[in-house]
Amino acid sequence: MPKQTSSPAPSIPVLLADDANWSTLAAALAAPARAFAEANGFQPKPGRLLMLPGSNGGIGSVLFGTGNDAGLRDVPFLTGKLATDLPAGRYRLEGTLASPDLAYLGFLLGGYRFTRYKTAEPRGVVLDPPAGARAADVEAIAAAVMAGRDLINTPANDLTTTDLAAAVHALAKKHGVVAKEIIGDDLLKANFPLIHAVGRASAFPPRIIDFRWGDLEAPKVTLVGKGVVFDTGGLNLKPDASMLLMKKDMGGAAAALTAANILMSLKARINLRVIIPIVENSVAGAAFRPGDIYPSRKGITVEIGNTDAEGRLILADALALADEDKPEYLFDFATLTGAARVALGPDLPPFFTEDDTLATDIARTGLTVSDPVWRLPLWKPYQAMLDSKSAEMNNVGSGGFAGSITAALFLRRFVTEARHHIHFDIYGWVPSAKPGRPEGGDPQAARLVAALLLEKMGQD
Ligand code: BES
Ligand code: MN
Ligand code: ZN
Repeated sequence: MPKQTSSPAPSIPVLLADDANWSTLAAALAAPARAFAEANGFQPKPGRLLMLPGSNGGIGSVLFGTGNDAGLRDVPFLTGKLATDLPAGRYRLEGTLASPDLAYLGFLLGGYRFTRYKTAEPRGVVLDPPAGARAADVEAIAAAVMAGRDLINTPANDLTTTDLAAAVHALAKKHGVVAKEIIGDDLLKANFPLIHAVGRASAFPPRIIDFRWGDLEAPKVTLVGKGVVFDTGGLNLKPDASMLLMKKDMGGAAAALTAANILMSLKARINLRVIIPIVENSVAGAAFRPGDIYPSRKGITVEIGNTDAEGRLILADALALADEDKPEYLFDFATLTGAARVALGPDLPPFFTEDDTLATDIARTGLTVSDPVWRLPLWKPYQAMLDSKSAEMNNVGSGGFAGSITAALFLRRFVTEARHHIHFDIYGWVPSAKPGRPEGGDPQAARLVAALLLEKMGQD
């Protein structure tokens, strides 16, 4: 007998219905389906879903409203709703898409859940990659972002400084390279005095991890990420509400690792270096104190005005190390200030660079890949707010004004050799779910930086 070849069941079409195409789309439906849509009062409002019956009583097709956003030009991640709201099954999108890649990515990212401590029934919703999508690349990007989300969502009891370091080693290993790590008191010998000072009170020692990957002849790109696994504020202890979410204070590290993961998976033609300073900002007898003065790797002395401004301290030493290599591009990512949220809210991280052309490229790429950011100025006159009576700089600005800008100006002092330095002050967290962005950790700006670099290398 010849072998039976069973072709897989065809996927269920998801029909993109917008304000302009809806009447034509409705007219083309089979009469019972059209009657069903009418009886249900379907309107193509953004995100509206209606399952239409097929001839066998199953789901024949799905109407998916996109409002006036034909082709999902403005809200490409609206497809994230499909992952959470459709019944189990295999689907395909039907209609014109502004970006098949982003429509697919939104769907994949919308399906993310943090399941380490609470298992969830698999939803069983699968989407055929839309025509024109670079499926393998998009899937690699989604996997990298989800790994970043997992890191941020993992609480500090299970993501100690040792655990975050292990995650960096694992990422390096996955891409065939080995990371170097300097731990605890060795940080003093290796001249990372600020990382040591911030992290020395924790039961889990501070450290800095560093790996390189890629083409030695290609442009040098260095990514640095703030890896504070928990931020109590130190002796300037945070009040309860402000401390509650501080497991996410390694969101910058997660973003740097996510960007690196994407760049390595997509084989970017760059000479990549990743540097992650990792500490827990704890309260203990050995804690650094307000009023302490420390040298830094760069040589600049720093007076501690507030132990809760710890991120900029560990970044100062990490950026100084990065700068010694004279990279073409030096990016840093950090959940650095509450002031950034006051200025721009949780969804729009500020970024800082002196290069106007590059700033335009960054803002544009952020919009293009739905990873938006907004430029704030490195306003030189505010540098004076960081003056200290006894040291070369204070770690906090006097007066409490322009917190995100003064933090950026602080970091800027530790970079003198890199051709471009770009700092992202991210929130690292989605406070309430949006399509493709479930509530929880979010490695903001990672996809944008990866896309920007791939574009610059002519690989987009
Ligand atoms: N990790 C915080 C910043 C933060 C707070 C980010 C809340 C996202 C949400 C950082 O270490 C910090 O505590 N910054 C202080 C600086 C201040 C002491 C100058 C802040 O923003 O209040
Ligand atoms: Mn802090
Ligand atoms: Zn912090």
